[in-house]
Amino acid sequence: LESGPIPEERFDEVIAHLRDSFFADEPLNRSVSLCARGQPHRELEEHARATLRDGLSEMVLDAATDRVVGVALNGVLLPDDLSASQAKLAEMDDAKFRRIFGLLYSVNRRLDLFTKYGVDRIFECRILSVDNRYRGRGLARQLLERSIETARAAGFQLVKEDATGLFSQRAAESMGFQTVCELPYEEYTDEAGRVVFPIEAPHKSLKIMVKELR
Ligand code: ACO
Repeated sequence: LESGPIPEERFDEVIAHLRDSFFADEPLNRSVSLCARGQPHRELEEHARATLRDGLSEMVLDAATDRVVGVALNGVLLPDDLSASQAKLAEMDDAKFRRIFGLLYSVNRRLDLFTKYGVDRIFECRILSVDNRYRGRGLARQLLERSIETARAAGFQLVKEDATGLFSQRAAESMGFQTVCELPYEEYTDEAGRVVFPIEAPHKSLKIMVKELR
C-alpha cells in the first residue's frame, strides 16, 4: 500500500470509490438509506469535489492494482462557511441530505469552535472512507495521521472531524483527538418524538472531535 496527496487526475476515481463505500456505508447515510451502493449522489459528489479542490486530501493506493482504497477528504472551514452552507442547504431538493447536513451544520454552529479555540480557520476532515475489503487494518488511522501532518505543514492550529460512527471515533481517539461534543442519536428526535437517525449498533452517537496542533 502507498499513501500520498490526491492529485486532480484521481478525482473521478475518488468519487467512484466513494460511491462504492462512503455513500452507502457512512452511518448517517445508511440510517436514512441515502444512496444505494455504487450509485451517484449529486449533492454528496459536489461536497466531495469542493473539498478535493482545497488540495489537502490524502489517499491510500493498493500498489499492486494502482487503485484508490482509502481517502481522507480534508477542507478548510472559515467562520462564515456554516451559515452560508445552511442557506444553500435550505434550497436543496434531497430531504435526506438536508436532514444529515442540517444536523452537522447546526451542531457546529452552536459549538463555534473558532471562538472556543481562538482560530480563524479550521482544517476539517470531512470524509473518511476505506474500501470495505481493506477495513480494520489501520488505514483510517494512517489517513488521519497524514492529514494531521498536512494540516501542521499548512500552518493550521486546529483539526476537526465530525465522527459519525464508532470506528471513525476510535481512529480519531487513537490519533489524539478529543471529543468536544457528543450527541447520542437516540436523543435526537423530531416533533413527534421519533428518532431521526435510526443508527445500527455499534454506532451510537455523533462526536465532534478536535486535535490542537499548537
Ligand atoms: N469492528 C470493531 N472495531 C473496528 C472495526 C470493526 N469492524 N473496524 C474498525 N474498527 C476499529 C479499529 O479497531 C480501530 O480502533 P483502535 O484504534 O481502538 O484499535 C479503529 O476502529 C480504526 O480502525 P482502522 O482499521 O484504522 O479503520 P478502517 O481503515 O477500517 O476505516 C472507516 C474506518 C473509515 C470508518 C471505515 O469503516 C469506513 O469507510 N466506513 C464507512 C464510511 C464511514 O463511516 N466513514 C466515517 C464517517 S465520519 C467522517 O467521515 C468524518
